[in-house]
Amino acid sequence: MRNDIYELPVEKEQACGHSIHPLLEQRRSWRAFTSRIIEPETLGLLLEAARWAPSCMNEQPWAFIVATKQNPTEFERLIGCLLDFNARWAQHAAALILSVARLTFASNGEPNNHALHDLGQAIANLTFQANACGLTVC
Ligand SMILES: Cc1cc2nc3c(=O)[nH]c(=O)nc-3n(C[C@H](O)[C@H](O)[C@H](O)COP(=O)(O)O)c2cc1C
Repeated sequence: MRNDIYELPVEKEQACGHSIHPLLEQRRSWRAFTSRIIEPETLGLLLEAARWAPSCMNEQPWAFIVATKQNPTEFERLIGCLLDFNARWAQHAAALILSVARLTFASNGEPNNHALHDLGQAIANLTFQANACGLTVC
């Protein structure tokens, strides 16, 4: 089976050869979604997982702008931020999350060169919490 967007092999299970955690091994950037809504409590749990990520100077430079299917106006606003080929599959997701990072330290205004790294760690936390909840993130 191949991914119809990037034509990458979907099966990579055996490629690793090490006993990494199943959550890591089984994670995929799935782009097909059911019509199931995501409960606010679950969404809160995902954001809480992101919040616990490590960050340079504990700046926690991330912020997340969330739109769920239950709010079509907000959802459409975020869909409008996407390239067409991403909007094609993202329109079926239960929630869209726009992630942003503050690029300067709040304490002194100096550039925070680690902000995007820290944002990535926060998103990784969110991704694996989502997977643990039976959800998928792309
Ligand atoms: C920074 C970043 C940007 C990405 N952008 C897109 C994107 O615009 N559209 C998309 O369908 N997938 C996107 N992906 C998903 C990658 O294509 C995917 O992670 C990669 O093909 C490996 O597949 P896997 O995540 O299922 O292991 C992105 C992933 C990352 C980390």
